Amino acid sequence: MESLLSALVVLLLVSFSFFTSSEALTSNNGNITIKWDIMDWKPDGYVALVTAYNYQKHLSIPSPGWKMSWRWTKREVIRSMVGAKPTEQGDCSMFKRNIPRSCLRKPTVIDSLPGVPYTQQIANCCRGGVMKPGSDSSFQLYAGKAGNSAKTVRLPANFMFTAPKQQYVCGPTKNVRPTRFISSDKRRTTSAFMTWKIVCLFNKAT
Ligand SMILES: *[C@@H]1O[C@H](CO)[C@@H](O)[C@H](O)[C@H]1NC(C)=O
Repeated sequence: MESLLSALVVLLLVSFSFFTSSEALTSNNGNITIKWDIMDWKPDGYVALVTAYNYQKHLSIPSPGWKMSWRWTKREVIRSMVGAKPTEQGDCSMFKRNIPRSCLRKPTVIDSLPGVPYTQQIANCCRGGVMKPGSDSSFQLYAGKAGNSAKTVRLPANFMFTAPKQQYVCGPTKNVRPTRFISSDKRRTTSAFMTWKIVCLFNKAT
């Protein structure tokens, strides 16, 4: 009887955790989707366009804005960034010249402010991390020491997305069908070399 009871408890716990983990993947209130489009290969890495979409119906990301972090899986470095900036450089002492913007294993990135020079802006950047429902926020990143082909690059992992007084939980990085981009005159389409996607859900107010 006792073993039957404990088996039942275990079964309940297992089904509960299964329920919460599958539950954690979708929400009726929407989500924050991060897309990582590889746009160009470099001798030692790649250039990516990273975009966060606020697909939430009611939640805005207020000032001072979103923060995004991840863990590199290959000891990549951020050689340069346009439209946003890493908050810390970390230890780049192994580089004697062309010092990267960040050598941290787990970099944190914030959006630039509206006043940055035009040469440091791209489309949909530089709103100080503020995002209304239905809007997006982009930056461009040059990852060095990253591999420069579909076979040698690695997906960054452990994404975290945070906003003032809001905590989010992000799912795994997934390799998805490459994004297609349509030129503004609609006469030409281009495609990302690879596209990775992360979905984050609002967890709780903090
Ligand atoms: C995230 O939101 C988008 C836009 O509403 C939706 O298409 C997508 O299925 C959602 N993803 C998940 C995992 O909930």
